[in-house]
Amino acid sequence: MENLINLDQVSELSPGVYWVGAGAKTFLSRNSFLRIFKGNGVTGTLLIDPGPTSDFDSLSQKVAAVLPGGLAKINLAFINHQDPDVLGVLPTLAKLNPKLTVIATEDTWRLAHLNGMSKTNFRAVDRVQGQKVVLPTGHKLQFIPTPFCHFRGACMIYDLESRILFTGDLFGGIAASGLYAQEENWAGIKAFHQLYMPSNEAIRLAVQKIRQLDPAPLALVPQHGGLIRGELLETLMQRLEGLQVGLDIITSLSSKLPALIAALNEMVTAAKSILGDAETHKIMGFFKPDGSYPSLFSLNSDEQVNDIKGEPLEAVEALLRMFLRFANEEQKALLRPKLLLILLQHELPPFDFLINQEDGMMELSPADF
Ligand SMILES: [Fe+2]
Ligand SMILES: [Fe+2]
Repeated sequence: MENLINLDQVSELSPGVYWVGAGAKTFLSRNSFLRIFKGNGVTGTLLIDPGPTSDFDSLSQKVAAVLPGGLAKINLAFINHQDPDVLGVLPTLAKLNPKLTVIATEDTWRLAHLNGMSKTNFRAVDRVQGQKVVLPTGHKLQFIPTPFCHFRGACMIYDLESRILFTGDLFGGIAASGLYAQEENWAGIKAFHQLYMPSNEAIRLAVQKIRQLDPAPLALVPQHGGLIRGELLETLMQRLEGLQVGLDIITSLSSKLPALIAALNEMVTAAKSILGDAETHKIMGFFKPDGSYPSLFSLNSDEQVNDIKGEPLEAVEALLRMFLRFANEEQKALLRPKLLLILLQHELPPFDFLINQEDGMMELSPADF
């Protein structure tokens, strides 16, 4: 059913809560949300994580579809942190409605207001007593700071009526396929956190705060990728609590990294001798940056690996699988033992798929990098 949701149009997640995001079919989609509050004879509007300047047309169109007067009628804007993908469009909103009030942490606003918003009204989350606020309509909102997820002043906002928690980059993912996250989106969520979140400790602290929310949230809606609800909500919280990210990966594998890089280069040489120079060159080309997202390796001009980005073992595995994918049966029979031998010589873990002789096809294309 949810695969049928047209992401070119606004989508109502819950009464008065609308998804007004953009870039649904791109590698890094952006989720923005419009909340329309009605009660006590008043109407209030809140735009959460408005998005980058490039999404202005899409945002404007989606908001206008459910809010007469469109973006000019937005009273409040909340920003999780000050990244350009979160607030790019905010100075334009402030021009469209000079009475606009921005809500954020002081840490965020210290940087955000430098984006041409020094005269814009601002309310600091830090000064909200008990971190809960009651709106004139009677609706309640709660602010939950998530330090270092990924900015030190990052803050989630919880709508206590819809029980939707707006998590910012936390719980975000790349390469999502629809509005709601599915089990198969885990790889993209994991990769996003490994690259953007600084440490497992920061994630655990944030998840702990989510578990303490009363009532418990029904949905976690991040700024990128699929929205999370149902059983996946608890599953993903548990997985992220146990995930090594950012500095965890760097510090734990830093002692192994030189060995890993040396082994990788020996494996590239082995691939050249079996698959040929041209085929190996083609495979290595998949790992070159295309400017849209960090590549897994950094390569020098001779196509020698000189650094590994992201989770090193996964990066190595991606390359090995790619070599095998482009090898015919005869070449595979030669390549497998050679790759295994190189790994063992460098005291590195032998990958299961090399030992198990299974094909281990991994869906990788140039667009994935
Ligand atoms: Fe960010
Ligand atoms: Fe972001």
